[in-house]
Amino acid sequence: MAIKQTLSMIKPDGVKRGLIGEVIGRFEKNGLKIKAMKMLHLTKAQAQQFYAVHQERPFYGSLTEFMSSGPIVALILEGENAIQVNRDLMGATDYRQAAAGTIRADFARDIEANIVHGSDAAETAKTEIAFFFNELEKV
Ligand code: CMP
Repeated sequence: MAIKQTLSMIKPDGVKRGLIGEVIGRFEKNGLKIKAMKMLHLTKAQAQQFYAVHQERPFYGSLTEFMSSGPIVALILEGENAIQVNRDLMGATDYRQAAAGTIRADFARDIEANIVHGSDAAETAKTEIAFFFNELEKV
């Protein structure tokens, strides 16, 4: 299995609720290595750019408002099959559909404020990593 990288974000609700350590601990215990990490507060325009793929969705305004409501943590995770491993750890977008033991099943109580974001495919991972990190910021 090829070593791959993916982009993870701990969303404003995860940061506010003190779940940074819990979430990162799950990544590390499951073979994902942290290759870059930063905390930042997105502007509304930056959140709109990051989620541009969803701009036609009815939840776009509310999502970008939420994502710019407080600090987030962005991380590059690396490991075998990292994109899928991270998605399996997060669980389904809707916490009510998320498998038991996943981050969203354990902590999310809202479809929008769902603690974490993770890239859904290799191309998206590349774009999302480049959105947050330049070459100097990666180990
Ligand atoms: P994420 O994995 O970051 O990708 C897009 C985000 O949009 C998603 O997590 C949720 O935060 C949000 N989202 C997806 N579907 C809905 C929905 N039906 N209602 C509100 N927010 C949603």
